[in-house]
Amino acid sequence: MASMSVFFTWLILLPKTFALFFISHKLASFCLHLHFKTPNKVDHQQLLSNRVKSLSESATLEMTRKSRELRDKGVDVITLSIGEPDFNTPEAVKQAAIQAIEDNQSHYPPVPGIMELRKAISAKLLRDNALKYNPSQIIVSNGAKQSIMNAMFALLDEGDEVIIPAPYWVSYPEMVKLAGGSPVVIPSTVEQDFKILPEQLEAAITHRTKAFIFSSPCNPSGSVYSQVELAGLAKVFARYPQVMIFSDEIYEYIQFGQKHESIAFFEDVFDRVILINGLSKGFAMTGWRVGYMAAPQWLADACNTIQGQYTSGSSTISQAAALQAVLTDPKNSPEIQDMLKQFENRRNLLFSLLSTIEGVVPNMPQGAFYMFPDISWYFGKTDGNVTIRNSYDLCLYLLAEAHVALVSGDAFGCDDCIRFSYATSTELIEEAVRRVAVALHRLH
Ligand SMILES: Cc1ncc(COP(=O)(O)O)c(C=O)c1O
Repeated sequence: MASMSVFFTWLILLPKTFALFFISHKLASFCLHLHFKTPNKVDHQQLLSNRVKSLSESATLEMTRKSRELRDKGVDVITLSIGEPDFNTPEAVKQAAIQAIEDNQSHYPPVPGIMELRKAISAKLLRDNALKYNPSQIIVSNGAKQSIMNAMFALLDEGDEVIIPAPYWVSYPEMVKLAGGSPVVIPSTVEQDFKILPEQLEAAITHRTKAFIFSSPCNPSGSVYSQVELAGLAKVFARYPQVMIFSDEIYEYIQFGQKHESIAFFEDVFDRVILINGLSKGFAMTGWRVGYMAAPQWLADACNTIQGQYTSGSSTISQAAALQAVLTDPKNSPEIQDMLKQFENRRNLLFSLLSTIEGVVPNMPQGAFYMFPDISWYFGKTDGNVTIRNSYDLCLYLLAEAHVALVSGDAFGCDDCIRFSYATSTELIEEAVRRVAVALHRLH
């Protein structure tokens, strides 16, 4: 009897159990469907690598974006945050590119660059810098930026340290991180003309130091190391043969008076120097994307392999243009000489204008087209609404109140300063500084 009742109970329950199972199965697969098919359920940020998430947006690009947003609202913004010459590429260089198009130079270039260009760069390094490199030691890339990145990828393993004197070009620390290394910053001040001393370098070197990277002329300070100063650094490096030296000489041709010096000149370190240069600044060719590296053969070979796997060579048309530029001695180019004269005049103008503003301590740059005044006197001051705590606050304040776009020093590892680019007309420089002075005057 009891077993009969169990049998009937099961008979009643079984369809219900099946129905329940069926419904929950359907519900589960519907939820799974929602999870995988609805795009906004996926947190895309989680898909990005930790390496990419550790990178910051370029401060110069951020400032350009912010000033564009203001301009779109109809505000008359003066942009002094620009990192490129406001001049056109020389005529002969443009013609060489047009000819390359006419000649159907439209096929894949050799990965390390066309041989004619590598030979011309080797000859240029002898002509301008008294440095002997085989064309095989030269790798042409999509801008100096890629040349630096290639060598970082070739050299760095997780945890390797790269010493960077501040103020530095915004991209250096991010490039080190992208390649898995750790940036180690050496500070400097306007009083030392933003150049580090040999003792500072020596104190920063550890057993984990793999490389050192600097630019002379420097972005953002415009400071230039003399031969004596470079000799002091080279002497330290001579004691640490495991440290590679990135010498970024992209502003070589934009100097006022003195002859360009390269740390590669010193025999003790020559075989560890990664000389970086390109056409972007000296020949006003930022958009053509041609840069190069001259390095020891073993490193050039490694960079060739890396470049072959992810970008191949720089565009054939740009390389034809670059060949014409590299063959040109800038001393004989009226366009380059005119550009230099204008940069020097603007530097002098900006220096004299900034020198008259209370609390602004400008440096006197010897190269590039930037000035990097110390503005820390304004920290803690207010206009009644906004309190300035750092260089970033001051930049935001000057953009909002003076409608002048500058770049804050913290982006270059030096929070006491802000960067003025004078790659613009004298009229705009005068008007920008006038507005800046008025806005700064309101801070107390
Ligand atoms: C110091 C420095 N190095 C390298 C570069 C990048 O040059 P390129 O345009 O050849 O990539 C820049 C550009 O601003 C720079 O300021």
